[in-house]
Amino acid sequence: MSDNGYNRDPVRIFVTGNCDGLEPLKDALDQHDDVDVVGFSEHVADAYAPLAGGHLQVVLHGTRDAHLPVHDIASIREHTQAPLILLASGESSQLLNEALDTDVADVLLLPQLADNVVFAIRKAAHAGRRLEAEGGHGRRGRILTVFSPKGGTGKTVTATNLATAFAKYQKKRTLLIDLDLQFGDAAIMLGLEPEKTIYDLVVAPGELDSEKLAGYTTRHSSGVDVLPAPLRPEDAELVTEAKINRLLEVARGSYDLIVVDTSPFFHGPMLATLDRTDELLVLCGLDVPTLKNVKLAQHTLDLLSFPASRVRFILNRSNSKVGMKRSEVESALGVKMSFEMPSDRAVPLSVNRGTPAVVADAGCDFSRSIREIAKGLLAREQEKKRRRFGALARA
Ligand SMILES: Nc1ncnc2c1ncn2[C@@H]1O[C@H](COP(=O)(O)OP(=O)(O)OP(=O)(O)O)[C@@H](O)[C@H]1O
Ligand SMILES: [Mg+2]
Repeated sequence: MSDNGYNRDPVRIFVTGNCDGLEPLKDALDQHDDVDVVGFSEHVADAYAPLAGGHLQVVLHGTRDAHLPVHDIASIREHTQAPLILLASGESSQLLNEALDTDVADVLLLPQLADNVVFAIRKAAHAGRRLEAEGGHGRRGRILTVFSPKGGTGKTVTATNLATAFAKYQKKRTLLIDLDLQFGDAAIMLGLEPEKTIYDLVVAPGELDSEKLAGYTTRHSSGVDVLPAPLRPEDAELVTEAKINRLLEVARGSYDLIVVDTSPFFHGPMLATLDRTDELLVLCGLDVPTLKNVKLAQHTLDLLSFPASRVRFILNRSNSKVGMKRSEVESALGVKMSFEMPSDRAVPLSVNRGTPAVVADAGCDFSRSIREIAKGLLAREQEKKRRRFGALARA
């Protein structure tokens, strides 16, 4: 997307805090075509979910303090890396000086013309995009998160087989992260006995970088690198949102694709992952309890302002004769399934052998559907890139 005025997608912003002049500014921004005000919360603590999951491009924070609101900034930073603009009123030279030493993108003293504020927002969003693009030495992996709000729907089977297909058949540098932090079994399904897990990575001293990450992953014979879940459920809580944010950013710099397996909950680590998820693969099944939960999850994703365009639905065990059809699932959820996977005996067999079906039984129906999905997801990515480059070329 170009930032030069020819192709203006509204910038997704969130407003926190308060200061004199913020109310009229908020009203003006609400009316402005160049920004999309995703939400407002006076207290940062009430805004963790949208900050983490809202795919925000800029955060505005109003402060009445003469000094930098360091606690609020730290709380915002725990949940999003989006550029931050501080809004203050009156004489705040102290604040301006202090902000120079931080990663605050801009400080604006109110009142200001709405157009000036929008210009600062666009500038910050543009700089944020450039920084992101430059991160990871030019490589920018895509994060595919496999999720379902119901246990046992096939998340781990899907995540392990997809990651294997990307690495083995599409020759992509692929990382599989097991974020089912308490009871993750991705490593077991791949027949791995890892020496190190995500727990060891997050408790290790020092800043995380790609070299350090490489020291904690286990290579599967297909070429997938795996970062397994902690061995003990009680170690899960040390894998904080801040650690996951950093891990995903570093992983993006080292891999083409990062496949994330999850648990059926919207807890903190999941929200942090959503914030960086390029494609959310939601597994559905032909049963009423799963549909009920998927419906609830759709509502939660809406509340989090997670863009619907990034969600893809997959129907698992699509051929089961259980008195429900794909069309009924689609009309109940009000969405189309992007892919389907048949129920196949090869799946439990391969799970018990610790070899993913796409390798153990490459010709079976399930494996064929996994390879289709892998190809479909890559084709969609290429199409997106083509359109982006097209837009840039036209600008
Ligand atoms: N398409 C399929 N055909 C046959 N069996 C399947 C299929 N998909 C999943 N299964 C079986 O269902 C079981 C549960 O799958 P899986 O562990 O992937 O679910 P999950 O969503 O990760 O569960 P949890 O929420 O407990 O992590 C597996 O043992 C697997 O053998
Ligand atoms: Mg699982």
